[in-house]
Amino acid sequence: MNSFCFVIHPLSFEDIARYEPGAKGKGEAILRKIMEWMPSYAAVHVSGVRTPDGRETQGWFVAAPLLPQQLVEFPREEVYRRVVRAIEIGAELGAQVAGLGAFTAVVGDAGITINERSPIPVTTGNSLTIAAGVQSLFRGAREMGVDAASSTATVIGATGSIGSACVRLIAPEVARVILVARNTTRLRKFHEQIAGDLPCESEYATDAPSAVRRSQLVLTATTSTQDVIEPEDLQTGAVVCELSLPHDVSRRIALERPDVLVIEGGNMVVPGRPRFERVREPGSEFDLNLPPRTALACMSETMILALEGRFEPFTLGRGIELGKIVEIAAMAERCGFTLADMRAFDAAVTPEKIAATRAAARRRRSNGSPALSGASRSDA
Ligand SMILES: NC(=O)c1ccc[n+]([C@@H]2O[C@H](COP(=O)([O-])OP(=O)(O)OC[C@H]3O[C@@H](n4cnc5c(N)ncnc54)[C@H](OP(=O)(O)O)[C@@H]3O)[C@@H](O)[C@H]2O)c1
Repeated sequence: MNSFCFVIHPLSFEDIARYEPGAKGKGEAILRKIMEWMPSYAAVHVSGVRTPDGRETQGWFVAAPLLPQQLVEFPREEVYRRVVRAIEIGAELGAQVAGLGAFTAVVGDAGITINERSPIPVTTGNSLTIAAGVQSLFRGAREMGVDAASSTATVIGATGSIGSACVRLIAPEVARVILVARNTTRLRKFHEQIAGDLPCESEYATDAPSAVRRSQLVLTATTSTQDVIEPEDLQTGAVVCELSLPHDVSRRIALERPDVLVIEGGNMVVPGRPRFERVREPGSEFDLNLPPRTALACMSETMILALEGRFEPFTLGRGIELGKIVEIAAMAERCGFTLADMRAFDAAVTPEKIAATRAAARRRRSNGSPALSGASRSDA
């Protein structure tokens, strides 16, 4: 059976307790210190991933136990060393392809150096994340009755590995796209490079709130460790698709903006009967903080490459070819992976919740809140 490994790391202090239940109640300073010296280790054994035509894979989630901030701030060579060590552990267990989770895919050149130093091919998993994110955004638009073709869409993190490809895929479906990031020079150059090829109007901005205020559709894929999207800035009835991990959409939106649809865009249902079992406590499930049978799209890409016997560095760097995204989406379909049901703020977005969100948007509009120019007639 083909095997994979996937490098994981905690996204927050709450996350550390999911990795290590013994860490519950310990102070943040102590935890941070422990993680500074904690070596990489095999945390989870994944089994039961089975395609409809009977192919199976197994694998390991190997922890490189550093927080996002530490992965950004530590000397780059030290971070590379820990991530490569995590992959070596996976390879020693039999993995033939490795995926990079969250900030381990972001650090430095987005997987290129890690792949060069790794004993097995490496993918960031970003191609499937992009495919899933764009599909999720437009599924949300349909559910909210937003007419995408007349909408303005903002992509935050537009110069990134994920965001830059999302801009290209969203542009053919909307009237205007706004590219947002902090580094103006990089943003301007990227916009100059692609504007002529985009089949819609486009502009760039470093002011995320003002771009969000002008948009009916928002996709966010940043490496911010702070909130980037706040409730005050969202249009009535807006749709926000969040790919960023850790999250950069304010949790206040759940309480303060019942008229806005927020969805986590990068989750997939895994075929078969997947089990995520703790290596140190056999028989006990690792809590991925997702519904049963569900995994992140980047994890899913790694599993799919193993299932298909594609032991190659499928997705690396910033500037992903659109052909790769189409190809991994087709492989995902062949292997029985499907877009997960909508979810946000650790809860399912049920049909009832969507109906309530649409009703709240209608009420807010009739109370004179800013018009939603991309809304369909039935909702106007
Ligand atoms: N859901 C999933 O399955 C999944 C899979 C893979 C990755 N991810 C997550 O997706 C996110 C993006 O990953 P990536 O590989 O595309 O990273 P990346 O290539 O490093 O790109 C990050 C982008 O975010 C921008 N950015 C950073 N901080 C910002 C801020 N405060 N405001 C506005 N823009 C900001 C960066 O530009 P500037 O520096 O110029 O601002 C850049 O455009 C990460 O959070 C990652 O963990 C999710």
